[in-house]
Amino acid sequence: MDIAVTETILVTGGAGYIGSHACVALLIAGFEVVVLDNFSNSHPLALERVQKITGRTLVFQQGDLRDHTMLDQLFHAHRISAVMHFAVLKAVGESCSNPLAYYDNNVVGTIHLLQVMQAHAVQRLIFSSSATVYRPSAVMPLDENAALGATNPYGQTKQMIEQMLMDCCASAPWQVALLRYFNPVGAHESGLIGEDPAGIPNNLLPYVAQVAAGVREVLPVFGNDYNTPDGTGVRDFIHVQDLVAGHLAALRLLLTKDKQQAFCRPYNLGTGNGYSVLEMVQAFERISGKSVRYRIMPRRDGDVAACWANAQRAQQELSWVAEKNLDAMLADSWRWQSNNPQGYRS
Ligand code: NAD
Ligand code: WQD
Repeated sequence: MDIAVTETILVTGGAGYIGSHACVALLIAGFEVVVLDNFSNSHPLALERVQKITGRTLVFQQGDLRDHTMLDQLFHAHRISAVMHFAVLKAVGESCSNPLAYYDNNVVGTIHLLQVMQAHAVQRLIFSSSATVYRPSAVMPLDENAALGATNPYGQTKQMIEQMLMDCCASAPWQVALLRYFNPVGAHESGLIGEDPAGIPNNLLPYVAQVAAGVREVLPVFGNDYNTPDGTGVRDFIHVQDLVAGHLAALRLLLTKDKQQAFCRPYNLGTGNGYSVLEMVQAFERISGKSVRYRIMPRRDGDVAACWANAQRAQQELSWVAEKNLDAMLADSWRWQSNNPQGYRS
């Protein structure tokens, strides 16, 4: 008689913004979850909240990806079927001022992970890549065949890891999904988990939310002279819940793949729609009922005018499409922000 085996998924960076939402989705879908996180950019409370939301428990290992011995023990202790790999450093500006820290944490950390996976014959991986791997372009939308060319060390680490994974697949039967996120925003609808940036937010939405909440006074709007309808930057914002649904779709695909056949494929995860910075500010004011003061500042180095996805490949091959609209993204973001004005330290 066949015995149903529950699949166990290792989530690196599972206490972080996207990882914590992925843990919720995995637990609700019935997977067992093992989280590895060093809390370099997150808080243990996130994992308690994941368990509160789902009514399920997960296994947690505090540690660093570069601790090879610990990783090896983790794979000995658990029968892991696949890995969702979120654990990297992600601040673009910091990566420019301290590139070695980024290459060490992100690239070296991933090498340790892949070595240990290979040693334990676990070769199914979902990698958090980014639209930042694409060469800046004036032609939108971007599909997965668009030219690559990251422009900062953080983006280079993503591009290098993608290349490493493609090389692994050329030499052995790995099954890998490279998920290229556009601009993840929003939070779980419970308001219990969300994005909790340390210090001054780098990304637009957390900054807008903090101004609306009175945590910060004024939003810097980086440039209003772009060739866009209102002159401010345009991005493809995607609800984090839709994003993690894309991970589950990719995971299901990988779990059905023949373990003897290599598979490595990039997928854009975006909505295919662009909204400008000022549209985001106005929509946030409407949803929150708060005013968001802003000041036009010079353009930010490295920014492109507009960026949005062609996500048809994910639709066709993963049967996935982003479902939540802008109002849902902003309402969930505001619920998280207003319930947790200082993030997990509230
Ligand atoms: P996050 O910083 O909230 O989460 C990353 C988690 O990894 C944190 O909990 C951190 O403590 C942990 N971590 C980092 N280095 C580690 C290490 N060496 N060992 C163990 N744990 C480590 O970031 P996020 O926004 O949740 O992003 C998740 C992934 O998605 C990242 O790979 C990021 O590059 C990618 N991504 C994010 C965005 C975005 O805008 N948030 C966009 C595109 C891609
Ligand atoms: C969006 C728009 C800004 C902040 C970044 C990374 C990318 C990826 C996602 C990980 C732009 C404007 C922003 C502010 C502003 N991360 N802005 N005032 O730049 O598209 O992507 O996050 O992979 O690698 O580069 O997102 O949210 O920083 O900016 O006016 O305080 O908002 O100029 O037009 P971006 P963002």
